[in-house]
Amino acid sequence: MASQSRHRATAAACFLVLLALCVVPAHGGRVLPAASKGAASKAQAAANETAGDEFLAPHNKARAAVKVAPLRWSTDLATAAATTTSQQQLQKNCAFADMAASPYGANQGWASYRARPAEVVASWVDQGRYYTHANNSCVAGKQCGTYTQVVWRRTAQLGCAQASCASGATLTLCLYDPHGNVQGQSPY
Ligand SMILES: *[C@@H]1O[C@H](CO)[C@@H](O)[C@H](O)[C@H]1NC(C)=O
Ligand SMILES: *[C@@H]1O[C@H](CO)[C@@H](O)[C@H](O)[C@H]1NC(C)=O
Repeated sequence: MASQSRHRATAAACFLVLLALCVVPAHGGRVLPAASKGAASKAQAAANETAGDEFLAPHNKARAAVKVAPLRWSTDLATAAATTTSQQQLQKNCAFADMAASPYGANQGWASYRARPAEVVASWVDQGRYYTHANNSCVAGKQCGTYTQVVWRRTAQLGCAQASCASGATLTLCLYDPHGNVQGQSPY
């Protein structure tokens, strides 16, 4: 694939930045303000079940590797994710969304190129190399939060969306219900 080899060839100029949402244990079931689920984003999310598979399959592979049950794709979460990514695209120059008030878990990825869903999920899963399950810790100076959300046992459903940004970049957001990354708890 031309685009793929191009960004491989220019790896120094292309990068992927990751962000995980972590929550404090007291996190209650905060309720989303009645989401204005745009008809366009709903159609977009529903029309694109193949994108769902592209996100879902690598999540479930990583979960199976640590004997955690698979996630199900949620079109409601995908619609909510699409609403957020299009807002970030239109109003925030594709910056990461502030998901602190969301009742869902959230993994984000910003790539300087047109990143495939599977590539973005792979970058989240790759953080697992820094994670030690025996003592539920992450190597100092590294982040493990996107990985621990991927494999969080109590999370049952997933929905994701991407926005293509003017600069050729890609913003990716996956939402997780119930959310993971509760401080002090082990993912599985
Ligand atoms: C659906 O998603 C796939 C994979 O991300 C993409 O190649 C395709 O263009 C999308 N189709 C529509 C209608 O958005
Ligand atoms: C957790 O275990 C790993 C592997 O044994 C070790 O390298 C690391 O220092 C430990 N971390 C903590 C915080 O105890």
